[in-house]
Amino acid sequence: MKILITGGAGFIGSHTILEILEHTDWTPISLDSFINSEPRTFDRIKDITGTEVKNYALDLRNLEDCRQVFEENEFAGILHFAALKAVGESVQKPLLYYQNNIQGLLNLIDLQMEYGVPHHIYSSSCTVYGSAKELPVSESTPSGQAESPYGWTKVMSEEILKDIALSSESLNVLALRYFNPVGAHSSGKLGELPKGVPNNLVPYITQTAVGVREKLTIHGDDYETRDGTCLRDYIHVTDIASAHLAAMKHLLEGKQRAPFDFINLGSGIGVTVKEAVDAFIKVNQVHLNYAIGPRRSGDVAAIYADNTKALSVLGWKPIRDLDEMMRSAWKWQQELGRQSL
Ligand code: UFG
Repeated sequence: MKILITGGAGFIGSHTILEILEHTDWTPISLDSFINSEPRTFDRIKDITGTEVKNYALDLRNLEDCRQVFEENEFAGILHFAALKAVGESVQKPLLYYQNNIQGLLNLIDLQMEYGVPHHIYSSSCTVYGSAKELPVSESTPSGQAESPYGWTKVMSEEILKDIALSSESLNVLALRYFNPVGAHSSGKLGELPKGVPNNLVPYITQTAVGVREKLTIHGDDYETRDGTCLRDYIHVTDIASAHLAAMKHLLEGKQRAPFDFINLGSGIGVTVKEAVDAFIKVNQVHLNYAIGPRRSGDVAAIYADNTKALSVLGWKPIRDLDEMMRSAWKWQQELGRQSL
């Protein structure tokens, strides 16, 4: 049974391919243009699993190019990860974000419908909740709010998928709203490879510890949280990956009641920036140069997930804790050395 993974060389896509190879008999086929990733990721996957994954180096913005993927394969389902995801960059380049994340999605759905692929798992984000007033955020928390063009592409994509799934006889869509995916595969041979200067906390921490960056700046310590730094819900990327297997099985077994649904993927635990930094230092016994700086614009003070729907609907819960996230992220950075994209 073939499953199409768009963005298979990306952070979450590549870890999901690993989970598929390690725990199922599915054949993952990837579509990744390498716009924000590198071909070597597939060598790393081969090193770990012994399996060569077929990738089509195509861009979803070009529908006719991508038709080849559907002509050559019959898919049981699609895991759609391919998208741009840097919040700040999306403010500078909104057209690029709408073209990639929306036009790419429209083309993919167009092909999916034409070739009759029934199941679609969509990579969404807690960004659709905007700045939620009540915590933790559950799926009944109002969404449809976003604070960046990137965030709007996630809100709009969910709406597009909902409308199309509701109007279709045959399409089932499940959107998974990720909180903050971090960490790396336990082997230390696969992890996140950010392009240029990382925006996200954990790659910034590991690059600082390895000496690529001089110093980590903690963006603000005057928020209304227990230590003044922002609070987030960090979740191990392998747990996120395993949720995709559970989600795809859920659709394949016909267990989803409505054509469109959405589920939070978080640990359910709020961790402050300072606590994350302390955990990294303690678990890895390394020095980290850091200082408190001003707030970063666009940051919400606190957000974390109510993850009970994932357990009740998918039977999934995260099993890797913050220490494991920090240990594996550091193991991966050591494997990578000073290399970045
Ligand atoms: N942070 C620092 N220093 C850094 C980097 C980050 O202090 O160098 C802080 C941020 O200010 C924030 C926390 O670490 O308080 C986490 O920041 P990230 O950039 O790692 O993650 P965000 O919570 O900002 O972003 C995540 C996803 C986005 C999504 C957003 C929705 O990466 O895709 O959540 O809230 F849009």
